[in-house]
Amino acid sequence: MTTPPALRSVLLIISGSIAAFKAPELIRSLRADGIQVRCVLTQGGSQFVTPLTLQALSGQPVHTDLFSLTAEQEMGHIALSRSADLIVVCPASANLLARMAGGLADDLASTVLLATDTPVMVAPGMNVRMWDHPATQANIQTLRQRGVTFLGPVAGEMACGEYGPGRMVEPADVRDAILAFFRQQSRQVGPLAGKTCLVTAGPTHEPLDPVRYLANRSSGKQGYALAEALADLGAEVTLISGPTALRPPPGVTVSFCETAREMRDLALKAAQKTSFDAAICTAAVADWRPAHVQDQKIKKTGKDDLPPPQALLPNPDILAELSEPSPSRPRLVIGFAAETETVEAHARAKLARKGCDWIVANNVGAGSDVMGGSENQVILITPDKAEHWPRLSKEDVARRLARTLADWFLKPHKSL
Ligand SMILES: Cc1cc2nc3c(=O)[nH]c(=O)nc-3n(C[C@H](O)[C@H](O)[C@H](O)COP(=O)(O)O)c2cc1C
Repeated sequence: MTTPPALRSVLLIISGSIAAFKAPELIRSLRADGIQVRCVLTQGGSQFVTPLTLQALSGQPVHTDLFSLTAEQEMGHIALSRSADLIVVCPASANLLARMAGGLADDLASTVLLATDTPVMVAPGMNVRMWDHPATQANIQTLRQRGVTFLGPVAGEMACGEYGPGRMVEPADVRDAILAFFRQQSRQVGPLAGKTCLVTAGPTHEPLDPVRYLANRSSGKQGYALAEALADLGAEVTLISGPTALRPPPGVTVSFCETAREMRDLALKAAQKTSFDAAICTAAVADWRPAHVQDQKIKKTGKDDLPPPQALLPNPDILAELSEPSPSRPRLVIGFAAETETVEAHARAKLARKGCDWIVANNVGAGSDVMGGSENQVILITPDKAEHWPRLSKEDVARRLARTLADWFLKPHKSL
């Protein structure tokens, strides 16, 4: 197995904007993504959120004072400024932006920001007039010219009751920008750096009429988790997604579709354009679609009306088409098999029938809670072995599969 990626770390500076109440949520989500967070809290920031809250959520001491003997002994301000891979100022008050632009170093936050050469992202949050003020706009321009990345603000209702630009972006947007930053970095150094991967995910919807469709219970969670895990290891990932309720993964190119035929067209076009190193088909593509899509809603007029009979047609087989020998065939084509009985035997048969290289078989039978659920239990079937993995979260299945891929690419292979 390859070694895990180095721990990613963020120095989060929280300043005196009312949006500081959103910082705890950001810390929680970053830690859930395996990112270490160390906090610096300005005096203004401490009016809105307590050091104790930040310490409890980050699991790290919170730094507040520039002139603190204890803090300087534990981690001095210079070491603090170099301690993280990324500095995020969230929220960034108008005052702190002004001090950054002016090169001031009159408290711990501004001193750290002046003493660092680490990339800096800021998420401003302030009243619309403060944001629109020429002084603030000039500061922003200066900071942008110096390479500071701005996240928002957005227009919206403010805590003060006014409306307009100045509202801080949501913590989920900041988290996405941070993950995209780390994934961009992994593309230079990660175990899958230089590799391109196609992932299909989610169900497909096959319309019957303008309001009804045939579908399945797939949530897309496994495929999205896989796209994220591959991107975390440095792969350039294209995700083709059927309809889901999930956030698009940051740092991944996503195309959306509804039907199996649309998914096929997107997948084959992408494969021709990119010549992927790997394609992983997790999508639960509908095998059949209604032969006729009605232009108008199929009406039920009488109480006992039976539905009109529906003829079905087979949908294209995306996995089989991607597996066909061709100059643009991905080096490794992996299918997912959702089975409800004799899982391994059916999956082996699918491996042979589709012409793909590996199959990940999962039991989606009644009571398994796999389709739509958060966990999965899979068998990884390759031509020479079947690995039975324990029941894991879908994120852990994704991480393990991504690492297996990275290990496979490390070894020399004859064509499969
Ligand atoms: C109730 C209240 C809310 C405030 N909200 C904001 C705000 O959302 N954005 C901002 O830039 N300043 C806001 N301020 C002003 C800052 O807190 C003030 O400029 C402070 O000096 C900033 O300190 P800092 O450098 O520690 O962030 C607010 C002040 C008060 C009293």
